[in-house]
Amino acid sequence: MGKKTILVTGGAGYIGSHTIIELLANDNYNVISADCFYNSSPKAYAQINEITGKQIKTYTIDLCDEKEFDKIFTENKIDGVIHFAAFKAVGESVELPLKYYHNNIASLVNLLALCEKHKVTNVIFSSSCSVYGNVQTLPVNENTPILKTESSYAYTKQIGEQMLQDVCRQHATFNAISLRYFNPVGAHVSAKIGEWPLNKPNNLVPLITGTAAGKYPQLTVLGGDYPTRDGTCIRDYIHVSDIASAHVLALDYLLQHKNKNNFEVFNLGSGTGVSVLEAITAFEKVSGKKLNYKMGERRAGDVVAVYSDSTKAYNALGWKCIHDIDSMMKTAWEWELYRTKNNF
Ligand SMILES: NC(=O)c1ccc[n+]([C@@H]2O[C@H](COP(=O)([O-])OP(=O)(O)OC[C@H]3O[C@@H](n4cnc5c(N)ncnc54)[C@H](O)[C@@H]3O)[C@@H](O)[C@H]2O)c1
Repeated sequence: MGKKTILVTGGAGYIGSHTIIELLANDNYNVISADCFYNSSPKAYAQINEITGKQIKTYTIDLCDEKEFDKIFTENKIDGVIHFAAFKAVGESVELPLKYYHNNIASLVNLLALCEKHKVTNVIFSSSCSVYGNVQTLPVNENTPILKTESSYAYTKQIGEQMLQDVCRQHATFNAISLRYFNPVGAHVSAKIGEWPLNKPNNLVPLITGTAAGKYPQLTVLGGDYPTRDGTCIRDYIHVSDIASAHVLALDYLLQHKNKNNFEVFNLGSGTGVSVLEAITAFEKVSGKKLNYKMGERRAGDVVAVYSDSTKAYNALGWKCIHDIDSMMKTAWEWELYRTKNNF
């Protein structure tokens, strides 16, 4: 396989930037990134350059602008696309559904139309375990029924998968993989890049590290009376670099024509459920810091427990997780310290 050019949308974002680092470690890939910095900073590209020693071509565009988006395809010969760009704040999507429908759907419509126009036949899509809705049976595998979603955000992911499936049905030569991530956390082992929330985050790990770093006064654990081993919610945390490596394997799989169907879906989770209190304990162990937290009320819409069965990705892609919860917490904490020191 000669060197392939991969367009990464949302490449300055959290998972996109880690995936670019993994792609650049593989000599088979040239990378182009497109991002509008809605939820990221161009500094991410400087950090990628510092970590890899490689410079990538970048475009600052809003993918909802089809004319601008078209320039990337006209100016480059693209072999495959990894589509991360989307809005992802679940709570905000319930408040502002049209904002999410507009951005997440219009950008994907444009992407698929441009792939059709420029004969680009390989797309990897960022999906989410939220497509399963409020699941009743665990672990969750790819055959777990898709239920009505809890948020407009999750519904944009269900619609996105349906759109890909429809285009795959229409064009036998078009190939797509949807990767359903569970809870991506942690940071690159160099500690020079990680999650970079522009506003106060809603997810647990940046709240833990931000509280420990003094950015937030205290962490509130949302519910201590769930029917779990310690009363707190259970989630499947997965290291962002493990998610990133799955994208490279999925891309190899498509470009080497190993896929059995032209639309395939894989769960990406560690397969291990970790409670909120277990995550806090892991953080305290690896950081040597006592976290200031209190128990609070349950949050509406939170499911009690969810974790994945990722056997399918292991069997088909040869993918498995390298990082455990201690490593996720350690890298997240080291990144928090680096960010604070460097004023990011
Ligand atoms: N992080 C998670 O917990 C999680 C879980 C499941 C799925 N996902 C999905 O993974 C993908 C990446 O998530 P992330 O955590 O890296 O998010 P992120 O917000 O860090 O990255 C997304 C990037 O896309 C860019 N973007 C958004 N809309 C755009 C547009 N119209 N044009 C150009 N750029 C645009 C943003 O500026 C940002 O840099 C998203 O599709 C998200 O829905 C994330």
